[in-house]
Amino acid sequence: MELPFAESWKIKMIEPIRKSTREEREQWLKEAHYNVFQLKAEQVYIDLLTDSGTGAMSQEQWAAMMLGDESYAGATSFYKLQSTIQRIFGMPYIIPTHQGRAAENVLFSYLVKEGDIIPGNAHFDTTKGHIESRKAKAIDVTCDEAKDTQLEVPFKGNVNIEKLEKIIKENPGKVPFMVLTVTNNTVGGQPVSMKNIKETCALCHRYGVPVVMDSARFAENAYFIKTREEGYADKTIKEIALEMYADADAATMSAKKDGVVNMGGFIATRREEWYEGAKLFCIPFEGYVTYGGMNGRDMNALAQGLDENTEFDMLETRIRQVEYLAKRLDEFGIPYQRPAGGHAIFVDADKVLTHVPKEQFPAQTLTCELYLEAGIRACEIGYMLADRDPVTRENRFGGLDLLRMAIPRRVYTNNHMDVIAVALKNVYDRREQITTGVEIEWEAPLMRHFTVKLRRV
Ligand code: F0G
Repeated sequence: MELPFAESWKIKMIEPIRKSTREEREQWLKEAHYNVFQLKAEQVYIDLLTDSGTGAMSQEQWAAMMLGDESYAGATSFYKLQSTIQRIFGMPYIIPTHQGRAAENVLFSYLVKEGDIIPGNAHFDTTKGHIESRKAKAIDVTCDEAKDTQLEVPFKGNVNIEKLEKIIKENPGKVPFMVLTVTNNTVGGQPVSMKNIKETCALCHRYGVPVVMDSARFAENAYFIKTREEGYADKTIKEIALEMYADADAATMSAKKDGVVNMGGFIATRREEWYEGAKLFCIPFEGYVTYGGMNGRDMNALAQGLDENTEFDMLETRIRQVEYLAKRLDEFGIPYQRPAGGHAIFVDADKVLTHVPKEQFPAQTLTCELYLEAGIRACEIGYMLADRDPVTRENRFGGLDLLRMAIPRRVYTNNHMDVIAVALKNVYDRREQITTGVEIEWEAPLMRHFTVKLRRV
């Protein structure tokens, strides 16, 4: 008999978590105005709000922290991190920052001007925010397959090359770069194929447009290339990563995901002039160029995290856990963005809470129901997050309305996945009785989902 699959590590340190009663959760959620961002973490049993900064570090990472060099300039920790990034990404110039959005802030301060157009395969919110706050425009060029959650294709995060070419052609001199996000978080942690990465870079370079890769989950993307794309089965994750970046001009990285640290990020580039330009913004925003926004010990932990999380066994353990949860949901017939993504399952709330009108936010309602059912905190990636149209001030109901259950790295066991699946099944089983959702009591003019106050209809 073939031995079953198991994690490529064992557990050395644990953190207790607490269950609660439904009555307690009813009270807490009411106090949080039906917005799970407003809950205290201790009111949560299983926390799937994000996979960002929530991973468990390895013994090697903790050991590396003790060797951190906290010198202001030229710390050994910086050189260790720099050489690791150079080796994995193949880019010579590195600027550390405190997280991903800080890398965007520093690089975009140098590159983005008013009136610019920046195409990308579903820019992450902060990426879009850093573009729009500079009075430039972010245009989505994700492939159309991503919009159909039930369509099973291997690389749903891909760029639509024709759409991209059209935008570049129609806006000569106005496209300072394009953003290629691996994996594509917004459409469900869906990967981009090596073929599509190469075609995107080739097209952009034909028009003299550089490519910046948003790399938060680059290692998970490399895993999908190895396991799904022809010709890569025998290559190592590190070989694939090098090939992914071979044609790119720069990378911004939120190291809180595939770097498996609690805080950290960086810019990497092969363009000396970009490095020199971005450096001038790093110093006032983040700090001197050999630490950016990071401690020496954190740079050490990140160097180690990048190295170990670009090994196949680590990624296989991770992605197979997400797949395990997906299979449990399949047993119960619960619809989600197919196939399962790298870091999360995105439940298609519109298809679950069919009696809740769009105006009453089905995915937000499902987020509340899942919390009330079992103390599980997921996150709405739907109509609430989509905000209002800046001109008409109407809610944007055009996109998908999803419930994201992001799985932290190396934190929960498959027993926890079983609890999540059954909790969701219990909500799913009473979906016909859920006929009303939530309405807005108060909202901020931008990025409302973090602070919105809601009431039950
Ligand atoms: N790019 C992508 C693709 C991201 O998913 C994130 C963060 C960022 C950039 C910004 O990085 O948080 O370090 O400043 N995503 C988190 C999430 C917050 O929950 O998906 P950051």
